[in-house]
Amino acid sequence: MTARGSPGFVGLPPLELGTLSVCPPVLLAPMAGVSDLAFRAIALEMGAGLAPTELVSAKALFHGNWRTESYLKRDPSREPHLYVQLFGGDVEIMASAAEEVQRRGAVAVDVNMGCPVKKVTRNGAGVALMADPGRAARVVSAMRARLDDEIPLTVKMRAGWGPDSRNAVVFGKALEDAGASALCLHPRTRIDGYDGRADWALIAELRQAVSIPVIANGDICSEQDADAAVDRTHCHAVMVGRAAMGNPWVFRSLLARWRGESTPPAPTAQERVEVTLRHFEEHLASDGDELRAVRRFRQQLLWYSRAMVDTAYFRPLAVAVDSAQGLRDLVRTRFLDSAWDTSGAGSLNSLSPGVPLG
Ligand SMILES: Cc1cc2nc3c(=O)[nH]c(=O)nc-3n(C[C@H](O)[C@H](O)[C@H](O)COP(=O)(O)O)c2cc1C
Repeated sequence: MTARGSPGFVGLPPLELGTLSVCPPVLLAPMAGVSDLAFRAIALEMGAGLAPTELVSAKALFHGNWRTESYLKRDPSREPHLYVQLFGGDVEIMASAAEEVQRRGAVAVDVNMGCPVKKVTRNGAGVALMADPGRAARVVSAMRARLDDEIPLTVKMRAGWGPDSRNAVVFGKALEDAGASALCLHPRTRIDGYDGRADWALIAELRQAVSIPVIANGDICSEQDADAAVDRTHCHAVMVGRAAMGNPWVFRSLLARWRGESTPPAPTAQERVEVTLRHFEEHLASDGDELRAVRRFRQQLLWYSRAMVDTAYFRPLAVAVDSAQGLRDLVRTRFLDSAWDTSGAGSLNSLSPGVPLG
């Protein structure tokens, strides 16, 4: 037990979201270009309790384009709970989108109020909603009104629009009043990107201020970080983003820790081959265009190889691979021939996207 009587991460109760019981209370973060069905299914299989989709444009949802449809692909046998993250700035469009994703099988809906990318914020969406709390609350209450009662509506946000407007706590309170079921906080502002450390003290403040569940996000990379985050914030659940990229095994370690078991061994090279190629084959099957699928998977390959002791030889081959068979051969030969660093996931800085995405 910690000083404040919190049970800590070990044995933390399931995260209750309406009728959804998230067990263990560990989520894969929504990540554009990462959180596709294949990766969500792998994360869930490894031990994540819930995995939202990447951000889906509320507006695009009604235009039937290939990419948006691919974000919403589902397979109930491997992903029992479809949890869709929507972004948009228009109250009515967001409300209609909530209804639409519910119709398509979502059992939980999240609103992105954290994305700092200009393409998103210039339309009043993402973290721009934190600069307009009145509209943000109207978005939540309009979506709430259109969703069935048992469907949880969560919000993922940042610390605020900028250093002078770190309003996550009052903002979160207003969203609770508007009908949000839970809040997830990545405590950096839009300006921070991924600089410095995530300010977990702000999560603790939010946790004190609201009665709905709070999910801690930001720099949680290991079971030790999950312990520390729960101790310091008293959050109801943790969410892991960059540390899971190319490293879904992080959820195996988190699950073991949550159960009070010892840390499982690092994945073997053979396991790395198996999971990487399973992810690729599914990605390929869902894309249909071999070259496009291979090109889009190159980034994943770099992530899957990040614990390789010497990546200097592998990286140029990975970014040049241009056929499915070439990719399979590369993974089989190089992954099995390489030595792997089993001490941890590697540096988060090397993984941060050029632009901060959420
Ligand atoms: C490649 C990438 C894509 C992301 N896409 C989204 C997104 O679609 N929606 C969202 O809310 N956040 C997005 N984020 C932010 C993450 O969900 C998370 O809040 C952030 O990475 C901090 O958590 P971490 O320190 O565990 O990585 C993205 C982050 C990365 C690295």
